[in-house]
Amino acid sequence: MARNGRAAAFAPIAVLLLGLACTAAAATVTLQTGRSLPPISGGMPVLYNATRDTAITTQYIDAWNNMNGITYLWGSTAPDFTYGLGEASPYNPAEKFRTLLRFDDAHSYVPADAVVQSAELTVTFINYNFDPVLVQACFMTRPWAYQGGPSYKTVGWAFSGWDGSASVPWTQPGAWADCSPNVNISFVLPSNGAYGYVSQTIALDPASVQAWLPSNGSANYGLLFRSSKLQLQFAKAKEAEGRHAEAATAYEAAGDMDSVVRLCLERLNQPQRAYAIVRKTQSVDAANQLSRYCLQAQDFGGAVEFLLMAGQMDQAFDIAMGHNEMDTFARIVAASAKPIPFSL
Ligand SMILES: *[C@@H]1O[C@H](CO)[C@@H](O)[C@H](O)[C@H]1NC(C)=O
Ligand SMILES: *[C@@H]1O[C@H](CO)[C@@H](O)[C@H](O)[C@H]1NC(C)=O
Ligand SMILES: *[C@@H]1O[C@H](CO)[C@@H](O)[C@H](O)[C@H]1NC(C)=O
Repeated sequence: MARNGRAAAFAPIAVLLLGLACTAAAATVTLQTGRSLPPISGGMPVLYNATRDTAITTQYIDAWNNMNGITYLWGSTAPDFTYGLGEASPYNPAEKFRTLLRFDDAHSYVPADAVVQSAELTVTFINYNFDPVLVQACFMTRPWAYQGGPSYKTVGWAFSGWDGSASVPWTQPGAWADCSPNVNISFVLPSNGAYGYVSQTIALDPASVQAWLPSNGSANYGLLFRSSKLQLQFAKAKEAEGRHAEAATAYEAAGDMDSVVRLCLERLNQPQRAYAIVRKTQSVDAANQLSRYCLQAQDFGGAVEFLLMAGQMDQAFDIAMGHNEMDTFARIVAASAKPIPFSL
């Protein structure tokens, strides 16, 4: 995140863990610019060179740019290739930056009969604010351009692209209304002092990534990122005032679900709400916190469940053995069994 309150995303890497139908084999494909990959059509490995990113903004938004703002197109932000991300810069509170990202040609490296078992995205952000920043992302539902077209008529705050004769507007300016409602991604980006670099690995919904592959990738619309620190600041202020229920609501609106879990356990006496949230988010940190709560509350089945979720297999096993919860242990382990992947 830059001096003016913008985060920047760059060097994104998508890792797709694939299962191939009809065989028990699993494989991992990593899409990263400059990485050499064997095409499924056969032949020599080629350098992957199809990561597309574009920042849309409300910078200088006005009639002269068709209310499309200034767009930072793919490759235009050399030498560091960072893209803006953020809302309410201290220099211009009305200014917003969002970044679109997709991995074109993913279908060229993944067999048509592959089943995506898991997918993750690694992005390096720059956040040299002193505050953590909430980042939200979504799967897009329509195509967008990443290269130039007629000035201020192609991709930007107002338009998703230029169809050859006319601008194609987003459903609403800013593109957020063209997010899929099926999956909402959000995470809290820590700050990193003067240097600012923070790498994050984000789990992506496998079914949504699978949809990037058929028909030569015709529905590979990628992701949209936005960030805001206002909602989080509001939530923290409420918590500091001791207004814990309001703070929990604000953290929830900000997408910081781990903080909602913390408040439910420590302040609101709402453990069931915490259980429901962690079962949904599968957050390792929150699952660890919840397992400690369960142990204190002598809910050993819950402790086993959340320790397993947090990857603490040995401790979960010991507690299950000691407290007659081996059925719970076996049921959860069986339900989460996956084929063992190998890497290409
Ligand atoms: C990647 O693609 C861009 C645009 O097509 C091209 O300018 C660049 O030379 C390519 N890089 C490599 C290593 O092929
Ligand atoms: C994602 O967020 C949108 C807008 O806030 C909401 O309508 C939708 O139900 C959410 N989807 C999920 C899966 O939570
Ligand atoms: C995908 O592209 C190839 C090569 O251009 C073409 O032969 C094939 O018909 C296309 N498949 C689909 C499902 O569009």
